[in-house]
Amino acid sequence: MSTAYKWNDHTYDVVVVGAGGSGLRAALGCAQEGLKTACITKVFPTRSHTVAAQGGVAASLANMGPDNWQWHMYDTVKGSDWLGDQDSIEYLTRNAPAAVYELEHWGVPFSRTEEGKIYQRPFGGMTTDFGNGPPAQRTCAAADRTGHAMLHTLYGNSLKYDVDFFIEYFALDLIKDEDGVIRGVTAWELATGKLHRFRAQRTVLATGGYGRAYFSCTSAHTCTGDGNAMVLRAGLPLQDMEFVQFHPTGIYGAGCLITEGARGEGGYLTNANGERFMERYAPSVKDLAPRDMVSRAMTMEIREGRGVGKNKDHIFLHLDHLDPAILHERLPGISESAKVFAGVDLTKEPIPVLPTVHYNMGGIQTNFFGEVVIKDGNNPDKVVEGLMAVGEAACVSVHGANRLGSNSLIDLVVFGRAIGLRCGETLKAGAKQPEIKDNQTDAHLARLDAARHAKGSIPTAKLRLEMQKIMQNHCAVYRTSESLAEGKVKIDAAYGKMGDIGTTDRTMIWNSDLMETLELQNLLPQAVVTMHGAENRHESRGAHAHEDFPNRDDENWMKHTLASIDIPTGKVSIDYRPVHMNTMTDEIKTIPPKARVY
Ligand code: FUM
Repeated sequence: MSTAYKWNDHTYDVVVVGAGGSGLRAALGCAQEGLKTACITKVFPTRSHTVAAQGGVAASLANMGPDNWQWHMYDTVKGSDWLGDQDSIEYLTRNAPAAVYELEHWGVPFSRTEEGKIYQRPFGGMTTDFGNGPPAQRTCAAADRTGHAMLHTLYGNSLKYDVDFFIEYFALDLIKDEDGVIRGVTAWELATGKLHRFRAQRTVLATGGYGRAYFSCTSAHTCTGDGNAMVLRAGLPLQDMEFVQFHPTGIYGAGCLITEGARGEGGYLTNANGERFMERYAPSVKDLAPRDMVSRAMTMEIREGRGVGKNKDHIFLHLDHLDPAILHERLPGISESAKVFAGVDLTKEPIPVLPTVHYNMGGIQTNFFGEVVIKDGNNPDKVVEGLMAVGEAACVSVHGANRLGSNSLIDLVVFGRAIGLRCGETLKAGAKQPEIKDNQTDAHLARLDAARHAKGSIPTAKLRLEMQKIMQNHCAVYRTSESLAEGKVKIDAAYGKMGDIGTTDRTMIWNSDLMETLELQNLLPQAVVTMHGAENRHESRGAHAHEDFPNRDDENWMKHTLASIDIPTGKVSIDYRPVHMNTMTDEIKTIPPKARVY
């Protein structure tokens, strides 16, 4: 490789890539265990996308009515449409209350009840008494800025421990040795143009989702699934990528999030006839049905000509019947977003909304310790040495085919904590590590150099837009065999155009042209495996609503998809892994599959 580039080498026990809620919690936990820990992040930690999370974090604290972790577990399994791994879901729901109290003790400014307890609001699909009782008030909230409060608190606390932050470093690729062991990660320092190799006993990917593969999403521009793409380039598969969550209430046109907490506080949806149509689709929980169901109901209303607005292409969300003082206290953030992005005073008028891509249930498959696993012969869960993943990048899988609102923030901290504990148990601080050899990282430089000097005819932004439109049109709330088959041809063709990209900025310092090109190289393979996975799954389950196969098919499809891609050719291979129907302990029995009605 050209000597124009020089590596700056670092050695740590653990390197965490990403400084959102899960990355910070993992890094903090590893440092607490006495491990020398680095956290590298492409944006300043408090600008990570967790900052945008609004409505809250789920835990059965029972502050506002009866609740327990077993009910939370039941709801999560049912919400996942029985694609979630039940051992991991037990781990999540059992450990959720302690994780929230930990956040409280660290300083998260939760909203309070009259008695001074943490305020909890209802969220979609969260019920009591194993689905037989009324909605549970389980979502712990700091007004509608819960993610913001958590992220700032976690960053502040991580500074108390000895985490070394490498800020505005863009991670390039995993360092893999001849035996397939992950030995660390490489990164490009955006402010200086220097290149770095982080050698570590454990590399933790906490790089978030890839919402920006779509045209309209609630995700920040930074959500390009960089860790997922590194995993694909390392020859490992991603799990359940066909399950993409549409949040029912993105602001029409702008796509920004209006929290589900709005419906938790009493908001409701109407169609062009002023009808509260959710009563027809989910008679018992109505507007508090899970997101996949509400998004489908809204899409049906629009399709059948009952959408609102000049083009009858969206739905109204009403909060105008609620006390303005309550809106001011509990939903100040969305009051402002509605004004800025929709020009609406929500105390007086409804907000125009539309289902918008919000979350990726799929990602890097892990066990509940956070260790990345792969299928190896008869062993579906062989640990990949040296590699862990957490947060939206990971697929533990606790969300299965559909995530319940507020189960994401709890996933970040419960499994972030699990990573710290696991690293503490299994690593020896300062243990000797093999040298990184240049031939293990030459391909990283070659890819960077090729993108930097790319002389093709297609600007990065043009190909990105093409990919986003294909995903939006062909892999949406509803899918058909025809739309997916066509989508596959188009997304494969878009992938093929990557070789004809042209960049114009040849520098190494703050080169956004290069960075966006590398991000597109990350997004495209994820878009491809998402489309192929969706075309391949011949059933409807959770967020995957296939009109030619409208029913869930447990006999043939209660299994995780594992999708890999051959990077040079774009050829996708699909395999499967069984769903863990076993629970983690004997204290709760497997929740058997049944029809998912609310
Ligand atoms: O609607 C919301 O506040 C989003 C929460 C979530 O995705 O968990």
